[in-house]
Amino acid sequence: MEYDLIVIGAGPGGYVAAIRAAQLGLKVACVEKEAALGGTCLRVGCIPSKALLESTERLHAAQHEFLSHGILATGVSVDLGLMMKRKDHVVATLTQGVAGLLKKNKITHFVGQAQIAGQGRVNVMQADGMTPLSATNVIIATGSHPVSLRGVELDGNRLGTSTEALSYPEIPQHLIVIGAGVIGLELGSVWKRLGSKVTVIEYHPRILPGMDADIAKDALKIFEKQGIEFRLGRKVTAARVEGETVVVEVENEGEIRGDRVLVAVGRKPNTEGLGLDVVEIQRDSQGRILVDVNYKTTAPGFFAIGDVIPGPMLAHKAEEEGVACVEFIVTGHAHVDYNTIPSVIYTHPEIASVGQTEEQLNAGGVKYRKGVFPFRGNGRAQALGDVVGKVKILADATTDRVLGVHIIGPRAGDLIAEATVSMAFGASSEDIARVCHAHPTLSETLKEAALAVEGRAIHQ
Ligand code: NAI
Repeated sequence: MEYDLIVIGAGPGGYVAAIRAAQLGLKVACVEKEAALGGTCLRVGCIPSKALLESTERLHAAQHEFLSHGILATGVSVDLGLMMKRKDHVVATLTQGVAGLLKKNKITHFVGQAQIAGQGRVNVMQADGMTPLSATNVIIATGSHPVSLRGVELDGNRLGTSTEALSYPEIPQHLIVIGAGVIGLELGSVWKRLGSKVTVIEYHPRILPGMDADIAKDALKIFEKQGIEFRLGRKVTAARVEGETVVVEVENEGEIRGDRVLVAVGRKPNTEGLGLDVVEIQRDSQGRILVDVNYKTTAPGFFAIGDVIPGPMLAHKAEEEGVACVEFIVTGHAHVDYNTIPSVIYTHPEIASVGQTEEQLNAGGVKYRKGVFPFRGNGRAQALGDVVGKVKILADATTDRVLGVHIIGPRAGDLIAEATVSMAFGASSEDIARVCHAHPTLSETLKEAALAVEGRAIHQ
């Protein structure tokens, strides 16, 4: 069958690219090996983890916060099966929603493993045979999968990754998390709130490497107060399952025993079995497909976007690239501003950032001014009973242009949108400070932090 565009992979990168291409009038096929659409994000990533984070935050509120509101809720307990059922329902609603969107946009959806067969040619391998497809252009959006460590043989059960940790059949007594990155902290939080003892082992001497160090330091204190135990600066050398116990060997510490292990030490691109070498698509030393600024691979007519190419492995980054890639194919012009890709960690409190960290600015010799405002000084945060955290704005010392915004606090993931839009429009901290923000809202913390750059926050 002949198409204008074949998209391989129906995750946030692939399905968004397919829809944008259909909007622009292309005849599009989308090949996905899983029966459910939406990729890791919808099936076993962002969405199910957020469903569980929401449920367990409510549990925590019922157990520990209701009383302060004068609400007496006794006998609060958990039905894990029902909680998981709700999560599965959220996932099913969204994956079916994507199927509906493909249909509405007249995108032909093939279920099967895509294999590149030559220039402009892709074969779809199905249980009952093979369907050959051809197209002028092909976008590879096959995503990524969790990696493990040397000496750690995953068993897909007690010793697993985020996929297993989203569906444990019972609440672990002791969950050992390897890696204090985004996944380790989000899913560690879920099971801690459900009652597990949670020990996080991290190779670096700090949590969330790459994040603004001062915010990560605050986060560590908060998570420790929540009862999560951290072993920082520790290297896991091996892990094994012994019956119902999992034994983790930690350098200079010995063995730590638990009943489940979550390995969350990063992800790597899905390129196996795709036939990249058939058309000589080159990869870097980490297996990521090499692309130019317009997402062109080294093979004519083949493009790649999302987790399978360099850059942060984030659903929204993949979406932006999907749109830009298709617009480049159709119009010859496209652009993604990589400096304004926000990042959010959905723990409690949430952590969100956009732009550069203090470490990056210092390393680049950039002179900046800093405005910090604590949620404690915000009326809405007080009314919510959620006052832990702060907003930090970093602005160029000479031009006042906002270079980075880092937030730890209630709804930080939503608040970062204002910072992102401001930065995308090249705003100065004074621009943010002079914009009227509704009262009482959490967004006033951004205005106050912007005022604090000039040392004139009102409520501090
Ligand atoms: P990550 O890269 O965020 O964190 C992995 C952590 O494991 C790092 O802190 C690293 O130092 C540590 N580590 C590596 N080797 C180790 C060892 N031998 N012993 C102990 N610690 C070790 O990776 P993570 O959490 O697996 O997430 C994968 C990807 O998924 C990331 O790119 C992340 O951005 C993305 N993601 C994003 C989410 C979000 O935006 N909210 C949610 C979940 C995942």
